[in-house]
Amino acid sequence: MNKIFAAITAVNAWVPEYRLTNEVLETMVDTTDEWILTRTGIRERRILKGEGQGTSEIGANAVKGLLEKRGIEATDIDLLICATTTPDMQFPATANIICDKIGAVNAFGFDINAACSGFIYAMTTAAKYIESGMYDKVVVVGADKMSSIIDYTDRTTCVIFGDGGGAVLLEPNTEGLGIIDSILKSDGAGRVHLHQKAGGSVKPASHETVNAKEHFVYQEGQAVFRFAVTKMADVAEEIMKKNNLASEEIAWLVPHQANKRIIDATARRMGISDEKVMINIQHYGNTTNGTIPLCLWEWEDQLHKNDNLIIAAFGGGFTWGAIYLKWAYEKK
Ligand code: UT7
Repeated sequence: MNKIFAAITAVNAWVPEYRLTNEVLETMVDTTDEWILTRTGIRERRILKGEGQGTSEIGANAVKGLLEKRGIEATDIDLLICATTTPDMQFPATANIICDKIGAVNAFGFDINAACSGFIYAMTTAAKYIESGMYDKVVVVGADKMSSIIDYTDRTTCVIFGDGGGAVLLEPNTEGLGIIDSILKSDGAGRVHLHQKAGGSVKPASHETVNAKEHFVYQEGQAVFRFAVTKMADVAEEIMKKNNLASEEIAWLVPHQANKRIIDATARRMGISDEKVMINIQHYGNTTNGTIPLCLWEWEDQLHKNDNLIIAAFGGGFTWGAIYLKWAYEKK
């Protein structure tokens, strides 16, 4: 019997309508369009407005469109994994809420929290359920409402992040297409540089934590940058070597969109030219778990069966990793 691989058979994404532009940010904090663009590559980001709208809204919208594209029902889904850092609630899992919203009554769901590397952690986890023969239809959602944990008076973080996300459907493939390899890494010592100080069990929410703005993203940008720029390039190079892949054999690099300078450094190390790198950070900023499905969705028209893709990410934790996958379909 041929080996079973987990292949992406559909991709979709969803972003809220409201665009927060650099020009608007200039009126909110002491920043300039020029600073944001040259230091990060970002021009605008989307913000989810409205009472009672959380990450599950983004995820549910993405999955509804995904099912339509593939022509299947929500009841066909066996498992839904949601990678998110901004769950609707501490519990239950946002995956469960998405399943409820879309009517995936036969699926079980759980969340993965690995910050910006969450989507590749979730893809790798999902693949194991397919490769083992346990399930046939696994949905992986990557979505975040980063605006819910951003301090819009802090110019060092508010210019970077945005809301949005996407989803992929994984199904068994016996033609050797799909997720071929994956390398995942983490180092908890990195948490000092990027975290949310309060709201967890160490420091539950109180008047003091709210007054001290401890429910927002805390990031030491330069320290994170130094790790991100080396680790993302290291792991991308490692997965190429492990799989004997030459630069010319790679059709696309799909990088997490945190900073254009980190993406460029990774591409350079891999020996990949700019036109093979998916970059849409200018439109969405850093949507954390949303960046990779947003790229796959936007570039779906240009992806061909057998294309070699390297997906690479780095994020809070620290967490980082790379996936090597062979694209499995031509868009109809
Ligand atoms: O996705 C999860 C992982 N996260 C990342 O990968 C993010 C990694 N880090 C970065 O992308 C970058 O470090 C940032 C974009 C966050 C910051 O860029 P930077 O080039 O590292 O700037 P910096 O922190 O070294 O700050 C340089 C200067 C500082 O001013 P002084 O001290 O030199 O006077 C900052 O206060 O830029 C200032 N600055 C700003 N100026 C205008 C910081 N933010 C802003 C701003 N507008 N928005």
